[in-house]
Amino acid sequence: MKNEILSRLPASYPWRGNIHYFDTIDSTNTQAKHLAAGGAPHGTVLIADHQTGGRGRMGRSFHSPAGCGIYLSMILRPNCPAQKLLHLTCAVAVAAADGIQNAAGLRPGIKWTNDLVVGQKKLGGILTELSVDSAGNVDYAVVGIGINCSQTAEAFPEEIQSIATSLHLCTSKRIDRTAVIAAILVALQQMCNDLQNSEAIHTRYRRDCITIGQDISLVRGDETCHGKALDVDENGALLVRFDNGQIRAVNSGEVSIRGMYGYV
Ligand code: BTN
Repeated sequence: MKNEILSRLPASYPWRGNIHYFDTIDSTNTQAKHLAAGGAPHGTVLIADHQTGGRGRMGRSFHSPAGCGIYLSMILRPNCPAQKLLHLTCAVAVAAADGIQNAAGLRPGIKWTNDLVVGQKKLGGILTELSVDSAGNVDYAVVGIGINCSQTAEAFPEEIQSIATSLHLCTSKRIDRTAVIAAILVALQQMCNDLQNSEAIHTRYRRDCITIGQDISLVRGDETCHGKALDVDENGALLVRFDNGQIRAVNSGEVSIRGMYGYV
């Protein structure tokens, strides 16, 4: 698999010597953090065929069976304050959508903040983790991308069958994971070059974000609030007009869109 990925990357791809491939791993994000803490350079990539402990946002697991999905993490060393990287998850989501579009001919939407979706169902997700020093500067960032590629509907665990989809299910085509991985790596490299241009990323994210304009619920701890998602601000926060009339920028918590993932 690694050689096929390498053969699909353009000659100009700068980090081909820093790709690590694993048949099985607990989590590419977890191992990427270990490598980064040990000094692994910017652009190091971990790719696995199978994860035994794939992780998602808010402590959730990410179902990562062998032979069907893309599980990859990249180490970034952007050399800037963490405050300048509030849009990183948005940038990675747009880059993942670019890669998928280029390789599979289909552009997923983005459900704020980090879900890739097609037709109301989850295709994949992004998990961004930062290590920040005492001065507030980023030591490293690990950006993880998980995408369901070849699954049939029955291949998903029963509890997610109604809310999950795969590239195969969306396109009715056989999916070549190595082509999608190579296209995502190229898109991530371009994203790194443009990371300081937060305005361009913001514009592109808003174009892909399907949450804007939708009725939503926000769950934070024991509290659930309802409102309408108005926009995404330049830091990647979701601007919501809550039913009490207040408009607030939401940075955390679980946002559900009415009509999606079983929220009625
Ligand atoms: C989410 O759905 O909340 C995010 C899912 C992110 C999954 C990817 S798979 C590669 C990387 N390794 C992990 O353990 N998680 C991310």
